[in-house]
Amino acid sequence: MPTDPPADCSGNLVEVERVCKSVSDSSGLLQILQDIDLRLGVRESAAIVGTSGSGKSTLLSIIAGLDTPTRGTVRLEGQDLFALNEDERAALRAQKIGFVFQSFQLLGKLTALENVMLPLELAGRRDARHAAAEMLARVGLGQRLGHYPKVLSGGEQQRVALARAFVVEPALLLADEPTGSLDIATGEQVMQLMFDLNRERGTTLVLVTHDRAIAARCERRITIEAGRVVA
Ligand SMILES: Nc1ncnc2c1ncn2[C@@H]1O[C@H](COP(=O)(O)OP(=O)(O)O)[C@@H](O)[C@H]1O
Ligand SMILES: [Mg+2]
Repeated sequence: MPTDPPADCSGNLVEVERVCKSVSDSSGLLQILQDIDLRLGVRESAAIVGTSGSGKSTLLSIIAGLDTPTRGTVRLEGQDLFALNEDERAALRAQKIGFVFQSFQLLGKLTALENVMLPLELAGRRDARHAAAEMLARVGLGQRLGHYPKVLSGGEQQRVALARAFVVEPALLLADEPTGSLDIATGEQVMQLMFDLNRERGTTLVLVTHDRAIAARCERRITIEAGRVVA
């Protein structure tokens, strides 16, 4: 029997509290995020929508612990991400969070199989090769294990990226416009796969998208405008 990933006592996987992000540039202080409050349940799927420049990618990076907030807290399974030092945060991220980018971000010098093995090897898994091959078969790329990213189509590369993100069975999967570089039909296949894996593995899914149809398929939609959650 698969067990549910542990959540904190409130039943939330992720708790974002009063998160602000500002940066200074030549024209002064730029407020990117202002007082963001957000809770995400175990297995929940949520779409973050909003116009370009509204702060969606910044919020996703902060939830992933890749960027730091100026103020506020993010807790994953009750653990305050920014109470950890960078090494501890990286270790937690490797164990619990998968990230899928618009631009795939595969390592060009590694084959599809090696790209998917990498997070398993970093986690010290001895069965990395076998588990990575199984995961690639699950995303329909069982015949492409030895191929390098440059000989794969965009849709195939994004499926390798999905396999890499899901192979460690993360509690949380974050995706920033994962279909933004793909044509509509290919994007649809990648999205379907992401929703299927989300359901199969009990992953919480947070997805930034411009596509209303994709957003409508998530259980929740979170709208960001000028750095604030407005709906
Ligand atoms: N490191 C940074 N320095 C300066 N401005 C930034 C930085 N990161 C993001 N921004 C600005 O913050 C705003 C929000 O960016 P982003 O989170 O990428 O928005 P979105 O993903 O919704 O398009 C934009 O105006 C962007 O130019
Ligand atoms: Mg963005």
